[in-house]
Amino acid sequence: MERLLSGIKPTGELTLGNYIGSIRQFIEMQKNYESFIFVADLHAITVHNDPEILKERIKKLVALYLACGLDPKENTIFLQSENLYHTALSWVLECNSYIGELNRMTQFKDKSQGKNNESIGCGLYTYPVLMASDIIIYDADVVPTGIDQKQHVELARNIAERFNHKYGETFKIPKPVIPKVGEKIKDLQNPTKKMSKTEENPKGYILLLEEPEIARKKIMSAVTDSEAIVKYDEINKPGISNLMTIYSTLTNKSFAEIEKEFSGCNYGTFKTRVADVVVELLTNIQTKYNEIINSNLVDEVLNNGINKVLPIAEAKVKEVYKKIGLGR
Ligand code: TYM
Repeated sequence: MERLLSGIKPTGELTLGNYIGSIRQFIEMQKNYESFIFVADLHAITVHNDPEILKERIKKLVALYLACGLDPKENTIFLQSENLYHTALSWVLECNSYIGELNRMTQFKDKSQGKNNESIGCGLYTYPVLMASDIIIYDADVVPTGIDQKQHVELARNIAERFNHKYGETFKIPKPVIPKVGEKIKDLQNPTKKMSKTEENPKGYILLLEEPEIARKKIMSAVTDSEAIVKYDEINKPGISNLMTIYSTLTNKSFAEIEKEFSGCNYGTFKTRVADVVVELLTNIQTKYNEIINSNLVDEVLNNGINKVLPIAEAKVKEVYKKIGLGR
C-alpha cells in the first residue's frame, strides 16, 4: 500500500477552503493508502501566536480532523512538534537547498511583499524546507494538498532527488495530488483571491466552526455578476464559478449537471441551495466536533500516532546522518 502524508497548520481557524482542498481528499483517499496526517504546529510559529491560543488550536485541529471524517483506524494522526526528527532532518536538507530556489517560492513572495527585510522572519523563508522534511522523512508516495502547496511539494521532490544523487538512494520522490475540482476555493467577496483564514474581511471566508446561519448569510451575500445565468466561467463569472465549485465538491455533481439543475433559476435560488449544503456540512461537522473536543479521543489518537511515526522518522534520520558522515 502506498503511503500518503499531509498536514495543516494551526494558524487561524479552519475554512471551507481547507476542507474542500485538503481534508476532503484525505477522507476520499484514506481507505486506499497508509495515511499519515499531522498537525503542522511548527509551521504555525513562522508568525507570532499567543501560546495559549496556539495550544487550543492544535487540539481543535485534531478534533476537527476526526469530526470531518478521518477514521482513526485508517489514519495515523500526530503532532509535528512531538517528533523532533522532522527538525533534525530539516537542517540537513537546508544545507542541501539553495537560496535561489527558496526565492522562487510564490507563497513566500506573496507573504513578504511590501514588508521590510528587517521584519520578515527567517522561518517564513525556510519553511518549505521543513515541509520537505515532513514529507520525505516518511518516504511518502503521495501528498494531497490544494494548489497553493504544489510548488512546495515540487521543492521536496527536487531536494530528495538532489540528496539521492549526492549520497545514494535514500528518499522516495513524493507526488503532489491536487483535486481536479476545488484546488483553490476563492474568497466570497473577492473571488479572484484564495479563501484564507488570515483574510481581514470575515465575509469572504467560511469557518468550519462558525454558526451555520452566519455561513448561510455569507453565501447569500457572495459577490456574483449581473448576467443571472448559472454557468461555469472562471474568467468572466468568478463568483458564480466559485459557488458552483463549492456546490460540486459537496454534492459530487458535475458542472454540467449543476448548470442543468439551475437553468432558468435566478442567483437567489442557486445561492439558497449552495447555502443549504454548506449549512448541512457545518452542522454535521460541529455535532461530531462537540462530542470529540472534550473526550479523551484526541489524546488517544495522538498517543497512538506519535508512537507509530517516531521509529520510522528516527531510522530515516540515522540513515541520513550516517550517509553524510555525521557522528562517531
Ligand atoms: P495550510 O495550513 O495553509 O493549508 C492546509 C491545506 O489546505 C489547503 N487550502 C486550500 N485548498 C483549497 N482552497 C483554499 N482556499 C485553501 N486554503 C488552504 C492547502 O493547499 C493545504 O493543502 N505548508 C502547509 C502545511 C504543511 C504540509 C506539510 C502539507 C506543512 N508540512 C507537508 C503537506 C505536507 C500549509 O501551510 O498548509
